[in-house]
Amino acid sequence: MMNNLFDFAEACLHRADIEEKLQLTAKAWQLYQQGELDFQSNHAPKAIAEVRFPEKPELLAPRFMERRKLGSPEGVQAFYHALAHIEFVAIYLAWDILYRFRGLPEQFYQDWLQVAQEEALHFAMIREHLRTLGMDYGDLPAHQGLWEHAEETAHDILARLAMIPRCMEARGLDVTPAMIEKIRKIKDVDGVELLTRILHDERQHVAFGSTWFKQQCNVQGLESEATFKQLLLKHFKNSKPKGPFNTELRLQAGFSQSEMDWLEEYSKHK
Ligand SMILES: [Fe+2]
Ligand SMILES: [Fe+2]
Repeated sequence: MMNNLFDFAEACLHRADIEEKLQLTAKAWQLYQQGELDFQSNHAPKAIAEVRFPEKPELLAPRFMERRKLGSPEGVQAFYHALAHIEFVAIYLAWDILYRFRGLPEQFYQDWLQVAQEEALHFAMIREHLRTLGMDYGDLPAHQGLWEHAEETAHDILARLAMIPRCMEARGLDVTPAMIEKIRKIKDVDGVELLTRILHDERQHVAFGSTWFKQQCNVQGLESEATFKQLLLKHFKNSKPKGPFNTELRLQAGFSQSEMDWLEEYSKHK
């Protein structure tokens, strides 16, 4: 029986089956809770190009995707389908960061295992909600771009932490409160509850990102705020982080006021 963290990670990243991924993630978490999960790194990670996604949903560039508003049932379905996809890729992102970067303190692996388990729950809850609306995950095409930052940061833990938890997931903190208000207006009570739960968990994911980013900067003898800025400038290239930012939630998740001031400036000018 599987009991090594990295075997679970390897299976979750390289087997496309959705049900199996959810079950393995739950199993790894359960073993960890029982003190039976082995954190010993046993073999080197495979290349990131070997990570496998399911055949459905079809992945498309955002410009080929229909935009729908919450005013119609189809729009609500499309909204939750997009959200399900974000959570699904988030399961991969959590497994990937702990799979790819070895030799860090055991707490690092425990934290990202918790994230993987929470993302799997988020995905399962959203998919369940989507099913009550008459649609399943995979029925619509989905956004292709979410994995790109993982690929380009596969060899740099600082870049990975800067771009995934401290940009992509932090963006969720900015936009989710307004989404909750829109969902409330269409009287989708279960949806409001779901998104509120997700927002609560995501603040912790970003906080893990901030904590480990600073910890790794310390280990490498780098100043964390300057390093964060440099990495964003490097990885955003022709784009830039989008505001408006939820300063209150980001401060709670480990951003400093000076990082927030810089993000405000940087998002406006270039
Ligand atoms: Fe999530
Ligand atoms: Fe997350």
